[in-house]
Amino acid sequence: MIPRVRTAVLISGRGSNMSALIEAARSRDFSAEIVLVLSDDPAAAGLSLARKLGVAAEAIDFRAYTGKPAFEAALETRLTAARVEIVCLAGFMRVLSAPFVERWKGHLINIHPSLLPNLRGLNTHERALAERLAEHGCTVHLVTAELDAGPILVQARVPVLPADDASALAARVLKEEHRIYPQALDALARSLRAEAPEPQ
Ligand code: GRF
Repeated sequence: MIPRVRTAVLISGRGSNMSALIEAARSRDFSAEIVLVLSDDPAAAGLSLARKLGVAAEAIDFRAYTGKPAFEAALETRLTAARVEIVCLAGFMRVLSAPFVERWKGHLINIHPSLLPNLRGLNTHERALAERLAEHGCTVHLVTAELDAGPILVQARVPVLPADDASALAARVLKEEHRIYPQALDALARSLRAEAPEPQ
């Protein structure tokens, strides 16, 4: 059996996308394995959820470090020790530095709740309603130094309905996030394996 690509998920909050990735990776033919969950916030609900799902989960508390370089060095140490090859950002609320992003180039992905390049940044559901968009959705993309601007891997569209408020719209988008994030991770892991097959 071809070894699966060791993957970490970085979170800051509830971890529903993280959970979708862990569940999907239980399938025998999924090409990535979730080996580690890290949170910059020790209070993130997703940490205990990950442990319940049988995945090692640790906080690397941003506030315990003197600044971003020290925090990112701690992340890097943990990821390297766990022999991680892919990092998935799933509601991770820190902007990673250009050197960190460069080091993980092609191996670092994010899910964003809009149809990029439309609605980069925060509060996308409120903004979709304020702009009276007919269509909204979510995007999995490779992370580059420019925020929410890396190459798009997978997108899903949902309609914006007349009765929608931000939470109804967010729930419709989230359902699609949980579908496309595993799909994008599986495809990326497969392509990395194809580039660099394990020695027999
Ligand atoms: C998701 O909407 C994701 O697209 C955005 O942050 C939210 C995280 O939710 N980046 P969860 O922690 O995965 O439930």
